[in-house]
Order: sequence, then C-alpha cells, then structure tokens
Amino acid sequence: MSVKKISFIGAGNMTKAIIEGLVANGYKAEHIMASNPSRPKLDILANELNIHITQDNAEAIAFADVVIMAVKPQLMETVCKDMLSRATVDDKLVISIAAGISAKRFSEMLGGHERVVRVMPNTPSSLGQGMSGIYAPSNVTQQDAEFTAYIMDHVGKTLIVAQEDDIDTVIAAAGSSPAYFFLIAQCMQEEAIKMGLTADDARLLVQQAMLGSAQMMVANPDVSLETLRKNVTSKGGTTAEAVASLQKNNIAHILSDAMRSAVKRASQMTQEF
Ligand SMILES: NC(=O)c1ccc[n+]([C@@H]2O[C@H](COP(=O)([O-])OP(=O)(O)OC[C@H]3O[C@@H](n4cnc5c(N)ncnc54)[C@H](OP(=O)(O)O)[C@@H]3O)[C@@H](O)[C@H]2O)c1
Repeated sequence: MSVKKISFIGAGNMTKAIIEGLVANGYKAEHIMASNPSRPKLDILANELNIHITQDNAEAIAFADVVIMAVKPQLMETVCKDMLSRATVDDKLVISIAAGISAKRFSEMLGGHERVVRVMPNTPSSLGQGMSGIYAPSNVTQQDAEFTAYIMDHVGKTLIVAQEDDIDTVIAAAGSSPAYFFLIAQCMQEEAIKMGLTADDARLLVQQAMLGSAQMMVANPDVSLETLRKNVTSKGGTTAEAVASLQKNNIAHILSDAMRSAVKRASQMTQEF
C-alpha cells in the first residue's frame, strides 16, 4: 500500500484509537495530522504519538491525501461548510466515520465531492478489537475502498459492504452490539450476585466466559455457531436446561427485535442530518 498523508478532522476518542493503531503498526507519525478546536487532546496525540497537530482544519486538509471526518454527526455539515470556505478537497479521498450520515448526504455536505467513503466503526476499536463496516459508492475506486479498509484494519477487522443499506446491518450486528453484550453480562452478573457471589467475582466469571467463548468462535471459523453450542451441551445436563429455558423465552425473537430496532433508528437518523 503506497504511503498517503492522512488528516483527521476532530481529535476525539475514535480518532485517537485509529491513530494509536496506525502508529503501533508502523504507519509513520510524520504522515499523520489531527485537527481539533481545543488544545488538550491534540497535545496528548503530539506528545504520545508524535503526529502533526493543528487547530486549523484548513491546514489539516492542505496536508493530506486522505481526510477522515471524525466530528459528531450534528456538527458535520457546519464543519464541512467552514472547511470548504478555506480549503479544497478536490483531489482527496474523504472518509466519514460519523453515524447516521449517508454517503450521498456526506457528498452534498462537501459541495458534491464524489470521492467519499463511509465507515461505521465500533467502540472496541479503542482496544484494537473493532469491527468496521465500509461502504464505497460505485464511483469510488477499488483502490480508495481498499485504502480505507487498510486504515481501519489497524483497529480491528473490516468488512466492505456492497450496498449502503448493509451499513444498517453493520450497525445492528456490530456497531450497537457491544451494548447488547454488556447488558447480557450485566444481567448474568446480577443473577450471580443474587446467588451469593461478590460483584467482582461474578463479573470475573461472566466476562472470562464471554471472552473464552468469543475466542472459541474465532479459533473455529469452520464450525457453525449451532455446532459450537451443541458441543458444549450434554444431553440432560445443566447447559441443556439453561439453553432450553432461553429458547422457551424466545431469545431469537428478543435479539431479532433489538437488531431491527437499531436498523429502524439508523434509517431515521439518516433523515435527521
Ligand atoms: N466512539 C465510537 O465508538 C464511534 C462509533 C461509531 C461511529 N463514531 C463516530 O465517530 C465520530 C467521532 O466520535 P468520537 O466518539 O470520537 O467523538 P468525540 O470524542 O466527541 O470527538 C469528536 C471531536 O470533534 C472535535 N470537534 C468539534 N468541533 C470541531 C470542529 N469544528 N473541527 C474539528 N474538530 C471538531 C471535538 O473537539 P472538542 O471536544 O474540543 O469540542 C472532539 O474532539 C462521530 O461522528 C461518531 O458518530 C464513533
């Protein structure tokens, strides 16, 4: 992959996670710049990661071959307008990681600029364990889509989706799902506490069981999730009773409803910005 200069507009949590991943994996800090209105987050990035910093978005754009827009969705339009009044993105790939802004809308915010890619990351990116969905409109080159994936690969796994609607599925399955897992873990922790354990011990049991199970899924890509479950479910045993209870209470419906609610909200959000 050829070296490109990358600027981040907005130096918040997601920007920090991505830059940490890039630098830790050998992307030269001298090719990265971050821009933010206030100074403290920039100073941390400069001191810890040695990247270029600026409080002027126009300077960041002039520096870069690739611009990553990482401001809150509700600020995106204003920030784009201000940026374009003082700089041009004509020859640049511009990536948005903002939730709820379609590629078409993002392109409009950039005055019709067509070289845009939409990325939907999730919070575990901050630990290098993220899952990002990437949508590149058909006019965007494969090279630009692949460079976007290359950037996001530094903070986890990536999936390039063919249709923009699939980004909503990414949100339902990966963007929002860490919260479902935390909720399930919380319910289990609370029940283990009721059964007599301390909060710390209950949490240790639940989180380690979740981590181990996730690692079993990763280590056995050719084994279906159903088979993995059946392999740990002896007939007439304790696990079989627990799984039967989950199925009797229709866990499939509960999760389906949750995921479809996320998709519904995602499509409402695209009307808001
Ligand atoms: N965090 C996640 O897990 C996650 C997941 C999926 C998508 N996203 C998307 O990623 C984007 C960033 O999220 P985040 O969690 O990193 O938010 P964040 O921590 O709030 O970062 C946003 C940054 O934008 C800066 N900013 C505000 N106005 C600006 C301007 N005019 N020019 C340049 N920078 C400006 C803010 O600076 P000040 O604080 O100084 O105002 C802040 O540092 C959002 O669009 C969000 O939807 C995040």
